[in-house]
Formats: sequence, structure tokens, C-alpha cells
Amino acid sequence: MTSDNSTAQVVVELSAVRKEYRESAALDGVSLSIRAGEAVAVTGPSGSGKSTLLNVVAGLDRPTSGSVVVNGDDLGRMSETDLALFRRRRIGMIFQFFNLLDDLPALDNVALAAQLTGTSAGQARARALELLDELGVAGRRNTYPAQLSGGERQRVAVARALVNRPALLLADEPTGALDSRSGEQVVDLLLDLNQIGQTLLLVTHDQALANRCASRLVELVDGRVARDSSLERTP
Ligand SMILES: Nc1ncnc2c1ncn2[C@@H]1O[C@H](COP(=O)(O)OP(=O)(O)OP(=O)(O)O)[C@@H](O)[C@H]1O
Ligand SMILES: [Mg+2]
Repeated sequence: MTSDNSTAQVVVELSAVRKEYRESAALDGVSLSIRAGEAVAVTGPSGSGKSTLLNVVAGLDRPTSGSVVVNGDDLGRMSETDLALFRRRRIGMIFQFFNLLDDLPALDNVALAAQLTGTSAGQARARALELLDELGVAGRRNTYPAQLSGGERQRVAVARALVNRPALLLADEPTGALDSRSGEQVVDLLLDLNQIGQTLLLVTHDQALANRCASRLVELVDGRVARDSSLERTP
């Protein structure tokens, strides 16, 4: 990967995106273009629209107006079924509270996500194990989420998010529920992933986290982009 992204493929293109809830607008005219290989951190006060932005990019929420194009697909033209397939195949998502399935061990949590896109059970388990190994939690493959530490749960969730080799990895406060040491490990993991080319869109309240793993900072205020600047990563 080169440091000059100017010719890289556009992965996310938001044009004048507005999302209204009753009277108020959670997003109020957001235009944003993200190129392959970028690591974009979104910050902003509570209620500024950060999660809404991720949900719109993931096709979980439809904007009231404006367009969302991800990996060349115009989400506004897709049916709900198409959107569900799009999410499984193209998007990896990581959440503050992990969102693992409690009644499945770690390996199955990851493998299931691959099987849902049509990968055979055998291949899905092999790929899941390979990822758990890369993320340092292969030894926990038969453990249920309730018996994992927060940091381990998030590693399993990262493995699940990556299992279908998504065009875009979305993370909403991925360290918000972790102690500082596990949080740093997850941040380093995201940085490593970006350095091998994974495009990343990350929501965080934590400026230090943003500085550590993002190459660009977008600040939302009242549903608008108040600032959009490149970052020098701090080691
Ligand atoms: N499903 C919903 N129904 C009604 N209003 C909503 C809904 N989701 C979000 N909102 C409103 O939209 C605005 C933006 O919410 P959003 O969750 O995107 O903020 P956020 O920046 O992620 O905040 P936080 O940092 O607290 O997570 C808020 O005013 C919120 O109350
Ligand atoms: Mg939020």
C-alpha cells in the first residue's frame, strides 16, 4: 500500500446524506468520501450522529435523503434482502458490547458468519480458526462468550467481522467497554489491519485512540461534518 491514496478506489461515497427522526436531523447533509486503505476516525459529542452515520453506511438505516454508495453499490437502490446480503459480504462490524451469540463458542461465532455467505461448514471453520489464531485467541475457540474476558470477546468479534474479507470494517466505540490495556490491544489490532490494507471507519469518543490508529479525523457536530483533517499517527 502506498501513502498516497489519491488514486485509490473510493469505498464509501456519501452525498448530502440527511437522516431525520421526527423533528430533528441526526445527520444534516453529510458528504464524505473514503478511499481504499484509509483509516477514518469519527469523533464528536454524544448525539452528534456518529452511530447513525455508521448505520447508514452499513445499510442498517436508510437515509431520509441523499445517497450512499459503498464499494460501487448504491444502497438506496437495494431491496432489504439485497442489503442484508451486502452487509454479510462487504461489511464487517465491531460494536462496543461485542454482540456475540452467547450460546455459541468462539469458533462457531466466527464460522457462522462465513457460512451465512455460503461458505461450506468445513471451510468456514478452517478460516475461523486461522483468524482466531492470528488474533491470539485460538486457544479460546471452544469457550463461550460469557467465559471470555472483554478483550478476548472483542478479538473474537474482530475475527467474525473479518471472516468474509469485507471491503470495509466499521467499528462503533470498539474499546468503550474495555479496560485500557485490552483497549490498546484492540486499537493496535485495528492499526495492524489498516496497515495491511483494510479500510476502516471507526467511531470513538477517545481522541488518543483516534490519534493512534487513524489517518484521518472527521468531527461531527449536530449531524454535520465540522472538521475533516488528516492525522499524523502517534505511536
Ligand atoms: N432510532 C432512533 N429514533 C429516534 N431518534 C434517534 C434514533 N437513533 C438516533 N436518534 C437520535 O439521533 C441523534 C444522533 O444519534 P446517534 O446515536 O447517531 O449519536 P452518537 O453520536 O452515536 O451519540 P453517542 O456518542 O452517545 O453514541 C440523537 O439525537 C439521537 O437521539
Ligand atoms: Mg453512538
